[in-house]
Amino acid sequence: MDTNLENIAKKIVIAIDGPAGSGKSTTAKIVAEALKYIYVDTGAMYRAVTLAWIRENKEYNEDNIIDLCKNIDITLENTSLGQRTFLNKQDVSEEIRSSEVTQLVSPVSAIPKVREILVDMQRKMGENGGIVMDGRDIGTVVFPNAELKVFLTADIKTRAQRRYNEIINKGVNADINSIEQEILKRDKYDSSRETSPLRQADDAIEIDTSNMTLSQQANYVIGLAKAVINEINV
Ligand code: DC
Repeated sequence: MDTNLENIAKKIVIAIDGPAGSGKSTTAKIVAEALKYIYVDTGAMYRAVTLAWIRENKEYNEDNIIDLCKNIDITLENTSLGQRTFLNKQDVSEEIRSSEVTQLVSPVSAIPKVREILVDMQRKMGENGGIVMDGRDIGTVVFPNAELKVFLTADIKTRAQRRYNEIINKGVNADINSIEQEILKRDKYDSSRETSPLRQADDAIEIDTSNMTLSQQANYVIGLAKAVINEINV
């Protein structure tokens, strides 16, 4: 008999949504590590489709992008370097963060059929629980029955400052005002698209992280998760 409670406890689905720069990915990664769950960055999947389209060098045309999306292979793998994104078996983890991809990803992710294909993949990844998934529609569309839903927010100045620090720390120059404009533009696009717009699920717990450190926000979510896991496993 397995006496290790961690192995027999039912594993839940944790959905973390929120606007750009709210700290979803970093929080989700820490939470997944603490619970020994799998972390899935769904934004990376939309970014990989966008990169594939940029590489094709074709005009923006929904049919082209849908065709492409049906024929590419996107995988997320957990390695010693953290979660890596592969496009047709090639590691594109850095390339999908380029400003070109960032500027084009919102219109690509608004195409309903692209969403249908990726949401299907995301549901398969989480069907057995034990997953922390971050994105824009995880609590509303991908896993509406997730046992824990968190919606992270932060004021625009804080979000722009976090992105700015991230870029500067990589040794790249950046302008905080253009970062702020890019985030606002993306938020507007992601919240106003017709198919599964960025929206807080009715039963999601909203956390404003403007005045929280990363470890405070991660610990807060870990606490919420442990409470849900205990409740389910009594
Ligand atoms: O989280 P991110 O910045 O890497 O996401 C990139 C874009 O992908 C974001 O602007 C909107 C889109 N996205 C989405 O529409 N649905 C998701 N579940 C995740 C990301």
